[in-house]
Amino acid sequence: MGLEFDYKDGQTPLDEEEKEGLKIKSITTQGELDDFEQLNIEKAVEWTIHIKWKVEKILTEKFIKDLHKKMYEDVWKWAGEFRRTEKNIGIPWTQIGIELKNLLDDTKYWIENKTFPPEEVAIRFKHRIVSIHCFPNGNGRHSRMMADIIMESIFGEEIFSWHQSNMIKPNETRNKYINALREADNGNITPLIEFAKN
Ligand SMILES: Nc1ncnc2c1ncn2[C@@H]1O[C@H](COP(=O)(O)OP(=O)(O)OP(=O)(O)O)[C@@H](O)[C@H]1O
Ligand SMILES: [Mg+2]
Repeated sequence: MGLEFDYKDGQTPLDEEEKEGLKIKSITTQGELDDFEQLNIEKAVEWTIHIKWKVEKILTEKFIKDLHKKMYEDVWKWAGEFRRTEKNIGIPWTQIGIELKNLLDDTKYWIENKTFPPEEVAIRFKHRIVSIHCFPNGNGRHSRMMADIIMESIFGEEIFSWHQSNMIKPNETRNKYINALREADNGNITPLIEFAKN
C-alpha cells in the first residue's frame, strides 16, 4: 500500500505482513493511525473497568491476549495474536509462550509472598512483559495498561499517572520513559516506578 510510518525512538517497525493487517484502509498517516488506536484503547479501558477481575484470571496468557485484542481489534487483524517474526526489541518469537509463563508464575509468587510492594510488582511486570514483546505492535501501551490493571484489580490501589501522557509523541516525557526502561534493563527498576507514579 506504499504507506511509510515514521518510527519514533524506542518503537518497533512493522513488517509488510503486519502492515497488511491494517483493517482501516483509509489510514494514510501515523497521526491517523495513532487516533484510531487511541479510540480503540478507550473502548478497552471501558471494558476493563466494568468487570471485576480476579488475580487468577488476570495473570494468564488468555487475559494478556484478550486485553491486546480489545485494545487494537478495530485497527489490526492480528490484535491479540503473538508475533511470529523477530523484532529489534524482544526475545526470539518462539520463546514468547514459555517466557510469558515464567513471568506470570514469578508475578503470582511475588504477590503470594509479598516480595515487593504493589507498585513494584506492577512495574516489574510491565518491564518484563514489554521486554518479551509478545505482539507485533502495541506492546508499550498494553504493558502500561497491564500495570494499571494489576494496581487496581489485584491490589485495590490507584492506577499510575504516567506523567499524564500516552507517550505517543517523541518528546521530553517519552525520552524520560525510554531512559527509565533502559535503567530497568540494567537492573534498576526505581526510575521506572518513579516515572509511572508522577
Ligand atoms: N530499551 C528498551 N528496553 C525495553 N523496552 C523498550 C526499550 N525501548 C523501547 N521499549 C518498549 O517498547 C515499547 C514500544 O513497543 P511497541 O511499538 O510494540 O509499543 P507501542 O504501544 O506501539 O508503543 P508505545 O509504547 O510508544 O505506545 C515502548 O513503549 C517501550 O515500552
Ligand atoms: Mg508501536
